[in-house]
Amino acid sequence: MPDPSPSPRPLRPRQRGESLAVLKLLALEGADHTPVVLTSREVGQRLGVSQQAADRYLVALEKRGLLSRSLAQRRQRLQLTADALRLLRAEYHGYRRIFEGPARATFSGEVTSGLGEGRYYLSQPGYVVQFSERLGYAPFPGTLNVRLRASEARRLAAVGDWHGVRIDGFHASGRTFGGATCYAALLNGRRCHLIRPDRTHHTDVAEFVAEENLRRALRLKDSDPVRVVLEEA
Ligand code: CDP
Repeated sequence: MPDPSPSPRPLRPRQRGESLAVLKLLALEGADHTPVVLTSREVGQRLGVSQQAADRYLVALEKRGLLSRSLAQRRQRLQLTADALRLLRAEYHGYRRIFEGPARATFSGEVTSGLGEGRYYLSQPGYVVQFSERLGYAPFPGTLNVRLRASEARRLAAVGDWHGVRIDGFHASGRTFGGATCYAALLNGRRCHLIRPDRTHHTDVAEFVAEENLRRALRLKDSDPVRVVLEEA
């Protein structure tokens, strides 16, 4: 888990609610996939606020990197950014979780070896304490790596919106250890957690932590196929 990137400052609850309302409206107008041309007055009317208030919202969203805006005569071309879509998707997933219950997904892949870094990270007391408290066990020091086909890896990326167990980053021995989110999983039927470091680039390798050594418990060697069932907390 390499150093975390500075995360964008979280919005205050009221700002967040207002931003989401405007972004949702714009997305429903089509601005999620194409620029839409609207005046601040039209945005205000649709939101039930004044033109000035609508203008302030649009300026603030642009400043926060959630909206791209360009002027077209008296109107403006508005399109949501990738960050805005992430924000909306996370909100959507929250509602999905409330109304439809915990998500569940199955993946298949092959056991693979990493660079032996898992052992080092999972031995850090700062992580061990959090795992023990939040997952209910002290993990075997290491991560079992599973290589996924590209299509499976893309599906797995969507798990980022799920409700997971947070492991916070910390400083120790003069360096920074990044945060991560864990998701309950069964790997060939054994309890474990998928761990997704905050700063992973898109990757086709999924990492799992467990109380036990999964290779030993399941007699796994590199290239063996495994089946993983993820269940949202
Ligand atoms: O070398 P690699 O990065 O894959 O390993 P590691 O994260 O340092 O973990 C040490 C060894 O334990 C590797 O062979 C992992 O596949 C294995 N392991 C396991 O079987 N079950 C776990 N819960 C964690 C690690």
